[in-house]
Amino acid sequence: MLASQFRGRIAALFGRRPSVEVRPLEPSSAELCYGLHRQCFAHAWSPTEFETLTASSANLADGAYIEGTNELVGFVVSRIVAGEAEILTIAVEPRLRGQGLGRQLLQAHMAALVSKKVGAVFLEVEDTNAAALALYARIGFEQIGRREGYYRQGRDRPAAALTMRKLLS
Ligand SMILES: CC(C)(COP(=O)(O)OP(=O)(O)OC[C@H]1O[C@@H](n2cnc3c(N)ncnc32)[C@H](O)[C@@H]1OP(=O)(O)O)[C@@H](O)C(=O)NCCC(=O)NCCS
Repeated sequence: MLASQFRGRIAALFGRRPSVEVRPLEPSSAELCYGLHRQCFAHAWSPTEFETLTASSANLADGAYIEGTNELVGFVVSRIVAGEAEILTIAVEPRLRGQGLGRQLLQAHMAALVSKKVGAVFLEVEDTNAAALALYARIGFEQIGRREGYYRQGRDRPAAALTMRKLLS
């Protein structure tokens, strides 16, 4: 095991933030994405869905890996259409949340979108998702709409979605 891998594992073991690098997700990471996604969302996307998402040239998919390893601890996927992007999903492994990893991941992803000449980024977020709302505000997203009853699957009561946008140019 490399020294960086060892340090990363030890940091994670003690709840400290390990060094993380952001790099493009490969279709071969589909199983890892699925494993992480099901820890983060009630309705998990399948490995096949992740394989399709990461293989599509219309999508930009980045993973956060513990430095020097293939240990996936976060990912973000967006779809680019006509110079605009929509964030389809973003997640960070539960035990590593609240340590700036989501911000690192999303900042790197936004930089990659800028390099692809994307002019605006959109997303939908549940209005009660405090962590996601704080992250998006930090990155500079602004609320531009609200859709009542947007989230319904697996809920007793539907929840509202906020539509957010960040202009990049
Ligand atoms: C949303 C998510 C990706 C954030 O990742 P993270 O690594 O915890 O985020 P960070 O540590 O970089 O925090 C970013 C900001 O949010 C704030 N924050 C983090 N968790 C918070 C919480 N539970 N409540 C309020 N603010 C919170 C941080 O303080 C930070 O703000 P700051 O930069 O002003 O200090 C993560 O919570 C997650 O995976 N959630 C489950 C999946 C999900 O809901 N995805 C979004 C769907 S729209």
